[in-house]
This record gives sequence, structure tokens and C-alpha cells, in this order.
Amino acid sequence: MNAYDSDRMADLLVPIGYEVSQAPDGADMIILNTCHIREKAAEKVYSELGRLAPLKADVIAGHKAPLIAVAGCVAQAEGQQILERAPYVDLVFGPQTYHRLPEMVESVLRTGKRIVDTDFPADDKFDFLPEERSSGDVSRFLTIQEGCDRFCTFCVVPYTRGAEQSRSAQSIAADAKAMVSDGAREITLLGQNVNAWHGDAPSGGEWRLGRLIRHLAEIAGLDRIRYTTSHPSDMDDELISAHGDVPQLMPFLHLPVQSGSDKILAAMNRRHNAKDYRRTIDKLRHHCPEIALSSDFIVGFPGEEDSDFAKTLGLVTEIGFAQSYSFKYSARAGTPAADQGRQVDEDVKNERLAGLQQLLRAQQDSFLQTQLGMTVDVLFEGAGKRRGQVVGRSPFMHPVHVEAPDRLVGSVRSVRIQKCFANSLRGEVQTISAPVSTEHLGPSAEGICA
Ligand code: 5AD
Ligand code: SF4
Repeated sequence: MNAYDSDRMADLLVPIGYEVSQAPDGADMIILNTCHIREKAAEKVYSELGRLAPLKADVIAGHKAPLIAVAGCVAQAEGQQILERAPYVDLVFGPQTYHRLPEMVESVLRTGKRIVDTDFPADDKFDFLPEERSSGDVSRFLTIQEGCDRFCTFCVVPYTRGAEQSRSAQSIAADAKAMVSDGAREITLLGQNVNAWHGDAPSGGEWRLGRLIRHLAEIAGLDRIRYTTSHPSDMDDELISAHGDVPQLMPFLHLPVQSGSDKILAAMNRRHNAKDYRRTIDKLRHHCPEIALSSDFIVGFPGEEDSDFAKTLGLVTEIGFAQSYSFKYSARAGTPAADQGRQVDEDVKNERLAGLQQLLRAQQDSFLQTQLGMTVDVLFEGAGKRRGQVVGRSPFMHPVHVEAPDRLVGSVRSVRIQKCFANSLRGEVQTISAPVSTEHLGPSAEGICA
């Protein structure tokens, strides 16, 4: 989401004369786009700002001092305090106001007055964002939903990103079509709680995500659709069944469960229990037997006992995840869990995290091993690390490197997997001699749900 927002900020600044620079030195403006989800986020921002301060002081002859801006959720949470702790910062703005960036920049340059804009404006930011610049990228992100109304007790998102807001199906489809015309073959639909999306349908009424995906799948040339991140309780039947009957919907789903203990899930206000999660996974596997799953886990949530943690390990063992992210609980100021329940000792958290990560790593390795010798569809996205290589992604998100010409970029090809690495695969294209078309190739029948 932050990568997408950063690109959109660049889209806003190009018309007023800025261009993207790869390094802070010599830049006219530096924007730190920040994330506040886990601990030390604010401290990291202040230390990064400390590193940038000299750029403001030692202005090289002939250059104006750069504007320094802090954007994103740390900006939203810290607001005015950033100007107090880092007086050389010119602009502080949150995720919901960055569409005002050109006016803010213009005002700071004209008046020299610093700005803090952490409103949650009533108007829809997306109505004010310009068309995206052409990137020619094969795989693109598209934000369809922002904010969250679920209020999990550990999470800052509802406070920093604000209330759940869904864009209309029509504006999403228009963006998706523009991306495909610009060369995109894969679109990942983004939202903090993406499967809570419920937007205006093109001809009145409201759609939910499953229906939107079916609609987007009609765009000629769009070979792959993904969405992230989802809440288990928002996996409705229409979305689950889309995994069985929309071939463009990739058989890989990130569905965070956080814990396997019902006691902890209730304390987290997740509003589902372990059995509900299992049931959802069973349904998904019924519709799409090959679906690979990924999850987020938090260990050491307040009140988590050994027996709760054992339930998390049990759920992981039972379900089997192809990929996962796991974190130690970190108390976020202003969230209910920060001062509720018994906080778990740091060494216990470390021990649990190590145990969980060992199990998750073993599952990830064995999933990668299952790919050996398989023929999978790969969407090629660009040049590989080595000369003569191109790299793409398998349906299950693994990077796949092959020796092949650049002209394959933008097409889906069958690749036989020959080697596994820690997080990636190497293989050989099966259909190299076939003419390469940039037109819609469509996923082949094998390797995709049917
Ligand atoms: N402590 C630890 N992990 C957290 N996450 C969110 N908030 C916290 C927190 N306070 C994790 C959750 C979420 C992921 C994006 O970050 O697992 O799914
Ligand atoms: Fe945070 Fe996700 Fe819970 Fe929303 S559903 S409060 S974004 S963890």
C-alpha cells in the first residue's frame, strides 16, 4: 500500500515540475513515506530524519535547501510532534490527505510556513488523484479500499488510515483497463481489509469483492488477478467460489489468522475462531484444491500462555502454509491491547517466535520442494539478476528465473521447474519457440483452478 501511495505522490508532483530521483542528495524535495504498524516505527523515522538534516544545513552552492516531508501513518500518528522534534521538516501529512500535495508544496514554497495536514477529509481522495503515469510494468497494484472498521485490539490501522472506504466498481475498472493498456498483465487489488470491499456497482446497487473480480476478469489482456490483505470473516461464498471459477484469479491467498487460540482470537477482537478459519480454508480448498495459503501470526499477545501458543502451532501444522509472516506482539500506543491483559515477557516472545518460525520455514521449504519437476505458468516481469535471464512469478508468487530472451517479458509461459532456492525457483521455458504475442495469452488450463 505504501509503495502504491508513493507512486501516486509522484503522479501528483510530476505536473508541477518534479521528477522521481533515486537518491536524496541533490533532490529538491524528500518525502519519507512511513508505516506505523509495528514497534519503533516513529523512532526509525526520527533517526532517518536526523540523517537528512545535514542536507538542509549544508546546501551546496547553487542549490536550494530541499523540502523535507513526512507522509504516511507515522505522520498521521505523530502530527505536530514531528515538527517539534525535527524543526527542519516542512510538511507532515497523513495517508488520507496526500492528494493535496501540490497545494501544500506550493504553499510552503510561497509562504515558508510549515504544514501539518492529518485530517480525514470527507471527500474521496481518489476523485482528486490524477491518472497514473505510464510505467509499462507487467504487474501493478491497484488500491480499491482503504482504512478498516474491524478494530483488532492490537492494530493501529483504524486510527491511522481511518474508517473503511471503498471505491466504486466503475472507477476501479477504469483504472484496471488503463493499466492493461499500459502493458499490465497482472493486477493486485489492494486494501487494508480488501475483502471488506463493498462498492457501488456500475448499474446501481452494491457489489462485493467476488463480483468485482468476476467483472475485472472480463478485461481482455488481464491474465492475473490477486488481492491482499483479507480478513477471514470477510471471506464470503461469492469470493470463495471465484477461486474455483475465475481462471485469472491466482491460486494463492494471504489470509492472516494471527493465532490458533480462541481465547487469544477473542481478546484480539478478531471475531472468528480457529474452527471458522479452518472451515473457510476447507471451502477454499474445495473450490480450488491447489490453492496455496499464506498468513500473518502474532506471538506473545497479552495473556498468551504456552497452551495458547501450542494451539497456534497446532493450527499451522494442520493447515500447512506456503508462506508466512510472524511477529512478536508490540504494544501500539492508543490501541486497547497496549494496556490490557498481562504483557508477555520478551524472552518468552523470542522463544515462541523462534519456534513458530522454524515450523513455518519448514512448511515453506517443503512447499517449494513440491514445485520441483512441475510445469507452472510464469508471468515474466523483467530482466533477471544475470545477463540472459528473465524473471517472473509462478501462480504461487514464487520468483522464477529462466534463461530466455527479453521478449518474453509481459507473457505467460509454461516453465518446468528444475531448481529450488530459499525463496525462489529456476526453470526452463517449455514453449520458447512459439510466437510471442503481447495479446491476451490467458492462463493455461493446467496449474490454475478450474
Ligand atoms: N504487534 C505485532 N504485530 C502486529 N501486526 C499488526 N499490529 C501488530 C502489533 N501491534 C501484524 C499483524 C498484521 C500484520 C500486517 O502486522 O500480523 O496482520
Ligand atoms: Fe488491523 Fe487488519 Fe484488524 Fe483491520 S482487520 S484492525 S487492518 S489487523
